[in-house]
Amino acid sequence: MAADAYERVMDLARRRGFIWPTSECYGSVAGLIDYGPLGAMMKRRIEECWRSLYVVQEGFYEIECPTIGQEAIYVASGHVKGFTDWMVQCPHCTEYLRADHVVEGGGRCPNAATLDEEGLKRELEDLDCPSCGERFGDVEVFAFSLMFRTTIGPGSQRTAYLRPETAQGIFTDFSRLLRFYRDKLPFGATQIGKSFRNEISPRQGMIRLREFTQAEAEIFVHPAKKAHPNFGRYAAYRMPLLADAQQQAGAPAVEMSMAEAVASGTVANEYVAYYLALTHEFLVRVGVAPGRLRFRQHLSDERAHYACDCWDAECHSERFGWVETVGIADRTDYDLRAHAAHSGESFTVFIQYPEPVRRRETRVVPRMGALGPRFRGDAKAIADAIAATDPRLAGGPGGFEIDLNGAPLAVTPDLYEVREVEVEIQGEEVMPHVIEPSYGIDRILYSVLEHAYDEEGIEDGTRTLLRLPPGIAPVQVAVFPLMARDGLDAVARAVVDDLKSSGIMAEYDDSGAIGRRYRRQDEIGTPFAVTVDYETLEDWTVTLRDRDSMEQVRIARAQLAGTCSALCAGTVRFPDLA
Ligand code: ATP
Ligand code: GLY
Repeated sequence: MAADAYERVMDLARRRGFIWPTSECYGSVAGLIDYGPLGAMMKRRIEECWRSLYVVQEGFYEIECPTIGQEAIYVASGHVKGFTDWMVQCPHCTEYLRADHVVEGGGRCPNAATLDEEGLKRELEDLDCPSCGERFGDVEVFAFSLMFRTTIGPGSQRTAYLRPETAQGIFTDFSRLLRFYRDKLPFGATQIGKSFRNEISPRQGMIRLREFTQAEAEIFVHPAKKAHPNFGRYAAYRMPLLADAQQQAGAPAVEMSMAEAVASGTVANEYVAYYLALTHEFLVRVGVAPGRLRFRQHLSDERAHYACDCWDAECHSERFGWVETVGIADRTDYDLRAHAAHSGESFTVFIQYPEPVRRRETRVVPRMGALGPRFRGDAKAIADAIAATDPRLAGGPGGFEIDLNGAPLAVTPDLYEVREVEVEIQGEEVMPHVIEPSYGIDRILYSVLEHAYDEEGIEDGTRTLLRLPPGIAPVQVAVFPLMARDGLDAVARAVVDDLKSSGIMAEYDDSGAIGRRYRRQDEIGTPFAVTVDYETLEDWTVTLRDRDSMEQVRIARAQLAGTCSALCAGTVRFPDLA
């Protein structure tokens, strides 16, 4: 059988140093990978592109929290109780399998993630185990926690977990972030780092890892103000949306502008729409093929319990079908409310009204004429405590009790009255809502590799190439001396140094025929190659070759670094050079 796209891409990735099985000398581990020299470089470039949008353009400063988190965080967030997948053990081959994936693979139910324990059990009954081919029959389905558990310190009983998402670090730092952003909404914070999920039998290589990199932004907004202050940037941005309604009707995605998406109620609010468009822009910029990218809304029974609207950016893979690479959710105030309840800290923002609001309210009003003579020096403190009392507690005939310096004090009805007074309200405490774009960098990197992979018939056979955007390719410019002699090699090395001092990742190669050197660079996606030949020694020009078109132009050596920088930044395109 011919290799499918995944095998071809992963074969190239292994051979050329993008992605390796981890600790191969001991037999590697499913769900864990190593990034080789080119893969690690490409991953950094994708992360840098993400930073240029989220940290620089959006102004959401990046923070860095530990990957190990104390138990309290994940009790509050709901992960300890609820971050589980349904698992089944094959009674014949004893393999553990993720129940919803088996049901989906059996073609019985396209969205088995929405089934409960009983539903999964029913579906599994007459399905065959994908591992050994035997019928499951009557099997138990049980919940398996996806969090890796550990303890902090020697001999310690302090349970901790490896974080399953970077988001919680941002939520637990909320009060400090609020102060950093001078107590005003909206503001955002970002984090790029490793997350860990003990996935059940991960068989999807790069798509389902047990340790993976997330790039997440948490944007804190006023719950009643979800109009994005900069919506104009993306209001006219058009892209295909596969909303809940289209999925229910079995209809294809509909292309619309973000302004239309919000006006028609397809997308819940401008914030979600803004980050849908920004995500589309980012994914296309790093090399996802626009025709193999769609945005799918979660169905109401699929949505996480905390989200009021949620969309997945899905990239198409020949082997895996549509793969979620980014999730964009309005998480409401679920997380802040949970941490406030569990920690006892305040997770609210005081929003000052533009003008104080006057209203009549029922209050407990102290009678200073009675308090002063009786309590003298303590009268002020007692009056304050009386004024702070809930009028509902003060309505009875017997008075009420307050705390005075740690001791109870009976407040008799002659010391106060309960009546309506006019009060001036300066503002209110609100608990922000959170808009969260959550990117999985590894899935994005794999999708880019699969979409960039190409084989092309040429004069002397076939060339394999990665059509990576110049800004993402690990090596940006290859430099070849036509021959490794007659001073051409020394000039080529000087050209490499020039390029490097302009911040360009340049690689020198003098081994083998020039055609083979081009093929080697095409295969790792190097967008440009420079050849130093005998003409160079006469007129100080070199040839610059474009990977995709294989066109060449002759260019003055003095202009080479500037031109390559512009080509890599995308401010100049190769055809413009001719
Ligand atoms: P799935 O349904 O595929 O398990 P998920 O819905 O659990 O994914 P999220 O919890 O929304 O994923 O995580 C946000 C992003 O993190 C995903 O869009 C994905 O890119 C990435 N991600 C999640 N789990 C993994 C994993 N096991 N391996 C690689 N990336 C992952
Ligand atoms: N922070 C979203 C997720 O990882 O599920």
